[in-house]
Amino acid sequence: MRESTFSRRRFLATLGAAAAQTWPGFVAAQGVAPITAPSGAPITRAIPSTGERVPAIGLGTWLTFNVIPGTAAEAPLGQVLRTFFERGGAMVDSSPMYGFSEGVIGDLLKSSGRERLFSATKIWTVGKALGRWQLERSRGLWGVPKFDLVHIHNMLDWRAHVETLKEMKATGAVRYIGITTSHGTGHDEMERALTRERFDFAQFTYNLSDRRVEERLLPLAAERGIAVVINRPFDGGHLFSVAGKKPLPPWAREFDCENWAQFFLKFVVSHPSVTCAIPATSKVEHLRENIGALYGRLPDATLRSRMAKHFESS
Ligand SMILES: NC(=O)c1ccc[n+]([C@@H]2O[C@H](COP(=O)([O-])OP(=O)(O)OC[C@H]3O[C@@H](n4cnc5c(N)ncnc54)[C@H](OP(=O)(O)O)[C@@H]3O)[C@@H](O)[C@H]2O)c1
Repeated sequence: MRESTFSRRRFLATLGAAAAQTWPGFVAAQGVAPITAPSGAPITRAIPSTGERVPAIGLGTWLTFNVIPGTAAEAPLGQVLRTFFERGGAMVDSSPMYGFSEGVIGDLLKSSGRERLFSATKIWTVGKALGRWQLERSRGLWGVPKFDLVHIHNMLDWRAHVETLKEMKATGAVRYIGITTSHGTGHDEMERALTRERFDFAQFTYNLSDRRVEERLLPLAAERGIAVVINRPFDGGHLFSVAGKKPLPPWAREFDCENWAQFFLKFVVSHPSVTCAIPATSKVEHLRENIGALYGRLPDATLRSRMAKHFESS
């Protein structure tokens, strides 16, 4: 069912539902003391194909986690990942395209968060055999028995890889399958893929300066029962240079928003068809701001249009 608004009433219902959710990491999460107590339960969303709930803020790793594994550069990223899990996050998104990122994630998972992790990587190559080889390599780098979610990155050779992923899902070697694009490109092809195949997830770009997916892809995902992961929720960081230097409007308090990062993220995850946004950061202080969007009220439809107008006038 699609929601037209995410009202306070609905938010309270979500809190109740969160207690009964099936996400395996959630029960373990109850024992983790947050660094500062967030108000209420994390905002979670159901994956339409199973009803399993995932926290609405995840973590991207493109560029930010691409450091040489085993070096001092990993330490701040360890803090980022640990704080992400401590504060209720679960989905970590990566890809073989992101340089050393998968190896770095694997290293850092040795010391924290494995029980909370919702692992999401991608296949990014041409041909079935290479796709299988690449996915096995990624599994080794992460050190996970299997991935929760495997996307086909940028739709590259998707007709070949979807057959592999369907077979793997049927045998339980992967839990969910998906397909990605970004930067507002390839929407016609994405529409074809989502219409032809039964993907559990689709991933594309949505943020206050790029709202093209509101027209066709978000409604299509809702109609087809596909979970939606949003990449580039800060437009690669650009949103901060557009609006982030000004004070927040006072009405941002109406949806428990303390900083611009939360303003940008709450706009994205309050769209009724969005399951999860995956902002990337290399800094723990930014992570703390971002993960704050996982708590409190979300803007309703009226506030969402006010946010968009406010941003356009910035
Ligand atoms: N086709 C695809 O499949 C595809 C394409 C693009 C992206 N993705 C996925 O989506 C993720 C997110 O996209 P993205 O990394 O392109 O862009 P993004 O998340 O929109 O923006 C990341 C940038 O924002 C900055 N930032 C983060 N939090 C901040 C805060 N609180 N205050 C100020 N600056 C902040 C980061 O710098 P700091 O490090 O300084 O915080 C970084 O430069 C990627 O990492 C990747 O996992 C997938």
